[in-house]
Order: sequence, then C-alpha cells, then structure tokens
Amino acid sequence: MHTVRVDLGPRAYDIAVGIGSAGLGTFARRCLPHATAALVVGDTNVEKHVQVARGQLASAGFTTETSLIPAGETSKNLFTAAFLYDKLADMAADRRTPVVAVGGGVVGDLAGFVAATYNRGLPLLMVPTTLLAMVDSSVGGKTGVNHPKGKNLIGAFHQPAGVWIDTGMLDTLPMREFRSGLAEVVKYGVILDPELFAFLERNVLAVLAKDPIAVAHLVSRSCRLKADVVEKDEREETGLRAILNYGHTFAHAFEAVGGYGSWLHGEAVAAGMVCAWQLAERLGRVSGDAGERQTALLRAFGLPTTVKPEWDADSLLAVMRRDKKNQGGKLRFVLPMAAGGVELVGDVPESEVRAVIGQSQK
Ligand code: GLY
Repeated sequence: MHTVRVDLGPRAYDIAVGIGSAGLGTFARRCLPHATAALVVGDTNVEKHVQVARGQLASAGFTTETSLIPAGETSKNLFTAAFLYDKLADMAADRRTPVVAVGGGVVGDLAGFVAATYNRGLPLLMVPTTLLAMVDSSVGGKTGVNHPKGKNLIGAFHQPAGVWIDTGMLDTLPMREFRSGLAEVVKYGVILDPELFAFLERNVLAVLAKDPIAVAHLVSRSCRLKADVVEKDEREETGLRAILNYGHTFAHAFEAVGGYGSWLHGEAVAAGMVCAWQLAERLGRVSGDAGERQTALLRAFGLPTTVKPEWDADSLLAVMRRDKKNQGGKLRFVLPMAAGGVELVGDVPESEVRAVIGQSQK
C-alpha cells in the first residue's frame, strides 16, 4: 500500500493506493473516526464493488445505507442529487455521516456535490473504480452536477476525507475505459513529469496488459503530481491548476459537438492534446519531435489523435468560446512551452485554431 498525502492544512487527506479491498474498513475508520452510519453511493455498473465496500465498512463498525443510481452521465443532475438528499434525510444524517462514493467520475462528482451541500457539508470518502477517476476526478475536491446549458455548471470545492484506490478493480474495467484513463496519465507526463512520460513509452505493453506493478506506479505517480498542483492552487485561482486542463478546451468541444458518449472523456482529451500541440507549433512556441512523441504514445495506447471529419469547425469554435477558461470571448488555451511544461496562453487567433482543426481533419 502506497500513501499519497494531499497537504491542504486543515483539509489535508491521504490517498491510499494498493491492490485489493482488504483494509478499506480500517482506512475509512482512520479518516472518519467519529462516524457511525454512512451512505454508500454507487451506480448500476459497480454493484459488486459497492457490496464489497459495504462489507469492509461494516467490519469497521459503520452501519451503511446504499443508493445505486443509473450508470452514465445523464444521472449527474440535480434530480439525482435530490434523491440522495432524501436518502440522507431518511437516515437522519448529521455532520459526521460520511458519503462514500464508489464509482467513476459521475458517481464521484455527484456524491461529492451532495456531500458538499447537505447540511452545509458532510465528510466524503472516495473509492474510485475507473482509471480516470483514480488519477483525476477523485483527487482535488472538484464536485458538481450538470445543467442543461453546460457540464459541471453547478458545483463546489469539497475535499474528501480520504481516497481509497484498489487498482485491482481495474482488472474488470472495460479496455476502452482503461485506455481513456491513460490519456490523463499521458497528460501528467507532458505537463509535469518527463520521467513518467518516458516510463509510459518504455512500458506500453505492460500498461496495456494492466501489469499490477506498472499500473500501481502510474496511478500513484499521477495522484502525487495532481496533489502537488492542488496543494499550490486548491481553488484554481492563480492559474496553476488550470494547467491540468491541457487538451481540455478542444476536448470539451469534441464532447459537446460529437454528443456526450460519442467519445469517452479521455479519448477527447487525447485528440485535444494533439491539437493543442499543433496549435503551439503554428504559434511558433514549440518545435522538434516532442509533439510526434506525444502523438505516438497516444496512438500506442489506442487513443484517437485526429478530429472527426464530420465535426464542423464553426460549432467547435462556438463551444470553445464558451469555455470556462476564456475571458471576454477571447480564446485561451493551455499550450506547451519550448522549455517543457505548459502554460495558459490568452488571445489565441481564431484563424490558427481553425487551421489546426482543418489540418487534423485532412
Ligand atoms: N481535472 C482538472 C482539475 O481537477 O482541476
């Protein structure tokens, strides 16, 4: 078991990374010393993991109630949140009652949002079951639900009391979802850690075979890198945390125009990173073979690296202009730098973005 500490003063917490669920009860008890009851939230895809978590929590003295929501992005809304509020009210939950989120990004964001808002804040324990949730959404305290006018429009920062990662759960994760999570791992390599990037290049086959040691390394390293950023800019105020959105301005547009579900989030991020690199090249910010290495690694992981030809540039640009990172209608992107790493770049000419899309669609 490897522990990553997220040092946020009074909101500090541990991310425990290991193989196997034994120990979840002890970990939960250490994170939540005063809790007696807990609400375990999962979705219909992870019923088995929910049952195992309940057993572990019971052995540590928790009485548990369960809410299973329908799997998928369409559950991430205020109606499902209201259903969970009702459940907590029925349980007579008080400020010590934790919400335990067992699932991928949807469950974590939704259950986290409910924990952030019910009774002005309940403790939250994250038990991510997908690679994407393990390396990204369960760490850092972003919670939220979707509004018909946009993803994650309603949300709150609410750090968990702990994150329990059992990488053994990835054995049954569909390969497409696993590959999608790898896009975020490649992202950490590009923006923060050349050694992680080189490790991925050297271990493509082991990673795709879900070799336990390789997977445990990339998960705990990704969590450490994300924790370092969150510790310095918890609420995305200084611009530092924004670097985690590398590839995401393009990705959000691909997801919105393609329709959620056409590409998984990580697939959109993969093509988004390739576009961001090409944009940086066009702007004269980077040169050399690093962009090719990024594309080759994403391809080796079976991720898309080009924009679908049927997606219309006007529609993609309309979504990008609405992106949360943009101010005053100007296009802003997180772009690579010649010296390595990435930075937020404002006022990117629309013509260059169109050129990148066109070039990618050829
Ligand atoms: N996924 C980006 C962030 O947590 O800030």
